[in-house]
Amino acid sequence: MKQTNKASNSQMGVVIVGHVDHGKSTLIGRLLNDTDSLEDGKINDIKASCEKRGVPFEWSFVLDAFQAERDQAVTIDTTQIFFSTKARNYVIIDAPGHREFLKNMISGAAQADAAVLVVDTIEGVREQTKRHAYMLHLLGMKQVCVAINKMDKAKYDAKAFEKASRESVEYLNSIGLSAAHIIPVSAFEGDMMAARGDNMPWYKGKTLTEALDAFAVSSPPVALPLRFPVQDVYRFDEERILVGRVESGILRKGDTVFFSPTNEKSTVTAIENWPNKEGLIEAQAGQSIGIKLDDRIFVERGHLGSHEKNLPMLSNVFRANIFWFSNNALKVGNVYKARFGTAEATVTVQSIDTLVNTDDLAKQDNAGEVAKNAVAEITLRARDMLPIDSHDDNGQLGRMVLYENHDVVGGGLINMEGYPDQRQSKEPKSENIYKVAHSVTPDMRAERFGHYGGVFWFTGLSGSGKSTLAVAVEHEIFNRGLNAYVLDGDNVRYGLNSDLGFSPEDRTENIRRIGEVAALQANSGVIILSAFISPYQADRDKARVASPHNFYEIYIKADLETCEGRDPKGLYKKARSGEIKQFTGIDSPYEPPRNPDLVVDTENNDIDTCVEQIVNYIFAHVQTDGQVDVSQKSKGRVVALKDMKQKGG
Ligand code: ADX
Repeated sequence: MKQTNKASNSQMGVVIVGHVDHGKSTLIGRLLNDTDSLEDGKINDIKASCEKRGVPFEWSFVLDAFQAERDQAVTIDTTQIFFSTKARNYVIIDAPGHREFLKNMISGAAQADAAVLVVDTIEGVREQTKRHAYMLHLLGMKQVCVAINKMDKAKYDAKAFEKASRESVEYLNSIGLSAAHIIPVSAFEGDMMAARGDNMPWYKGKTLTEALDAFAVSSPPVALPLRFPVQDVYRFDEERILVGRVESGILRKGDTVFFSPTNEKSTVTAIENWPNKEGLIEAQAGQSIGIKLDDRIFVERGHLGSHEKNLPMLSNVFRANIFWFSNNALKVGNVYKARFGTAEATVTVQSIDTLVNTDDLAKQDNAGEVAKNAVAEITLRARDMLPIDSHDDNGQLGRMVLYENHDVVGGGLINMEGYPDQRQSKEPKSENIYKVAHSVTPDMRAERFGHYGGVFWFTGLSGSGKSTLAVAVEHEIFNRGLNAYVLDGDNVRYGLNSDLGFSPEDRTENIRRIGEVAALQANSGVIILSAFISPYQADRDKARVASPHNFYEIYIKADLETCEGRDPKGLYKKARSGEIKQFTGIDSPYEPPRNPDLVVDTENNDIDTCVEQIVNYIFAHVQTDGQVDVSQKSKGRVVALKDMKQKGG
């Protein structure tokens, strides 16, 4: 293969997609030939071999020849085919029919700047046309042209072109993708490929190569915040060098680099890039480097370096728009390995939020499984905190690949919309503060009041019945001599939390404050009934940490349909019409408790039954007459909490 004037900085990656038999391979063969990018004599060799075998020559054989070369070179996992126009060099990323084709695009192993969607004039838009177009859309591909192929078969009829062109535009528009150029071509005869040919004088637009030349080569994202995923740590005697590629932004010598998820930082004393002996003053996105730090902080492969003022999110739950490749369907509860940046984590599928049918674009909420070749929005949960960027914020890092037994089974783009950053400073802001020890113990208070304090944490969707039940329970147990108090979402948002809205971060802060207030009140001996949606498991876990001995998570269970049917405040209606944004269950997530202490089913039971169930539960947990020993009673819980604390939960 010729690789003339191949300056990598001006090289453009192109991906060629389309339905099977719509002519991708022919188009590539033709493109290579007509741009004079094949080795001299290659076509003659192929023609001679066709003659010998008595088969007619086809342009796609050119590609088969590359495929054969690739199969011998086992170490190359993407097929790279080069061609050049007068304007620049191109690399066609991967080849149609290659098993890893879609996977490489999803994982970002193959970076394409532009895409050609090949559509057969006569057949028009078919199933894979749609699926591949949808994938381009998901990958955020902005530079797309459509080649309406086999114009020779359609007798170069302008009407046939218009029909296929209209169909293509319609589908692309419906998924929010637009084609910069729609070109009638005959890959077989060469019309409108690199030359115009004589058969379509009615077409005034660009040829395929002109259209590609008009696209821009994307440059590494220097302007984005610094992201330096650590690939490896090398040790030379006393020295330690962290190696990796700057994926975005700029790293300068003397910078303080902050590592996630460890929250440790250190100053960069040297930037090296071999074989450059002097070292660098700075490294930009796209450069592979090694750095030295002035502290011996703990850093390992998978940790992510950034500047302190522009950190990635930390979260143990994240959402992704994915393609699924495996014959084994993805199901809720399944466990996979997720790889993003240089990090790897074990993740569990928490929910399949939306399943998209790429054919008719129908959407299904809360689907049971994702079958092969399907597209879905899913939520994953990891055991540990992970540094995460949404794809919208960082195209390099915001993608993820899922593995099962070392096989790529799916992948896609990370979308953290609706989820809060869980990074929090572990230490109080103030210095010189000392905790005061109480001399009145919980047992002394219990003896005085006749019961222990506790936090009974009601969680559930809006309209599930939290406030109604909390108020009724408060009344009932108060009548029976217990000191109970309801902390309610709407009420608290009038006072203590009047500065908070419903963004993920505000909800997290809302729950953090309530968790602390509830803990203080429960310590003073009150039975707290807290009624907050508290949509994130991580936040509820933190509220539990605030009251380690007497926290009870009560799931007020009613599904979205039921709650929406009740709609006591008319808020669902407003949310559906777009009047309220970020409404839980509609366009903001709700994570049901994973291990609730009590489940109260308000869908299938009346209020009295639910109240009784909760009242009985509370009595069983705060009574003193059975000589309840708080420290004994909550032993199991205390151990579990210790674990949670160690994990940073
Ligand atoms: S939480 O998510 O931060 O826990 P919280 O329980 O305090 O929410 O407040 C929920 C109440 O606020 C709902 O019952 C509803 O009356 C009201 N509300 C107003 N806007 C929203 C919204 N966008 N999402 C959920 N609830 C909302």
